[in-house]
Amino acid sequence: MARVLSTSRLRLRPWDEADATLLARMSATPAVMRHIGDGAIWTEARVAQVAARNVEHWRLHGFGWRIASQVQGGSPIGFFALSFAGEGAGVDAAEHELGWWLAPEAWGRGLAREGAAALRDEAFERVGAPSVVARVAPANGRSLAVAAAIGMQPERDGIGRAGEPIRILRLTRSRWSPVPRDG
Ligand SMILES: CC(C)(COP(=O)(O)OP(=O)(O)OC[C@H]1O[C@@H](n2cnc3c(N)ncnc32)[C@H](O)[C@@H]1OP(=O)(O)O)[C@@H](O)C(=O)NCCC(=O)NCCS
Repeated sequence: MARVLSTSRLRLRPWDEADATLLARMSATPAVMRHIGDGAIWTEARVAQVAARNVEHWRLHGFGWRIASQVQGGSPIGFFALSFAGEGAGVDAAEHELGWWLAPEAWGRGLAREGAAALRDEAFERVGAPSVVARVAPANGRSLAVAAAIGMQPERDGIGRAGEPIRILRLTRSRWSPVPRDG
């Protein structure tokens, strides 16, 4: 099993307990949180809950959120999600969901679409997902562009966990193969 994924510029390793620190820092950054849920920064309890859930997801399913660092070295720049959507997400709980959060200093270089493409391919090649979904705020243009760049198409609009509007995008396995790697 490939525990670490590599792209031309990124190293993507499985989430572990210590990554609660990165999640705490990112979820306290207003620019990052602007289009997440209701836009509020997360409480310590929420950070701990999500961090622990990600450890458990890896243990139960053998895939999950990944921490991204640049191959060139340096500290983590963010993370990419591949996980079951779970209850209350506005999509079926068993959907394979992709997500991406980068620290603002890493934006604007194509790193999000590069990492997202790697997890998309992992979902189809290793995990065996029939399709992948993303839930994106319709106002989150940067994230919608990432989804489009990896071949996802808008499916419908709905309501997220915090009552916020979300756009659901999907890529099915049958439409996946022609999509190029690395954005
Ligand atoms: C969503 C998010 C990950 C997108 O990051 P991003 O850096 O804009 O995404 P991309 O990897 O697609 O980069 C695209 C940009 O890189 C530029 N770029 C530079 N080199 C590039 C390359 N080699 N390949 C592709 N794009 C490149 C593009 O021109 C584009 O720049 P622009 O937006 O100024 O036009 C980031 O905004 C984020 O972390 N937001 C906060 C968390 C969040 O909302 N997550 C999504 C929840 S649904």
